[in-house]
Amino acid sequence: MTDSELVKLALKMREKAYCPYSRFAVGAALECSDGSVYTGCNIENAAFSPSICAERTAAAKAVSDGKRSFARIAVAGSSAEKCTPCGVCRQVLEEFAPALEILCVSGAGEVLETNLGELLPHGFGPKNLEG
Ligand code: THU
Repeated sequence: MTDSELVKLALKMREKAYCPYSRFAVGAALECSDGSVYTGCNIENAAFSPSICAERTAAAKAVSDGKRSFARIAVAGSSAEKCTPCGVCRQVLEEFAPALEILCVSGAGEVLETNLGELLPHGFGPKNLEG
């Protein structure tokens, strides 16, 4: 899948967002190393804390389907800013893909290409529990 196809899926996925509190819809499209793609949206909650981001929704779908190796993710927000993953999502993605390519997308579809090593340098992962 091309970058722009993955970005399109993330933009489309925003329509599924449940975000009555922030009104900030986010969509994500996560490509696994085997080429399969899992999408996600943010799902908010009246108690606020249990809310989950689009990236973690997509990652939970992938892992619960047996996928543990991720290659790329596109994250599309709803503002002029390109949507970078929050700190919690960076940590969750680190577990499965410390070198993950990340496409951060603005509401209008502009893209910033980065990777998890840049967004979470010296991240804590499974290797830190060894030895
Ligand atoms: N959000 C995401 O889903 N992903 C991000 O990368 C940033 C923030 C969600 C969480 C909350 O539902 C809303 O956007 C506003 O923060």
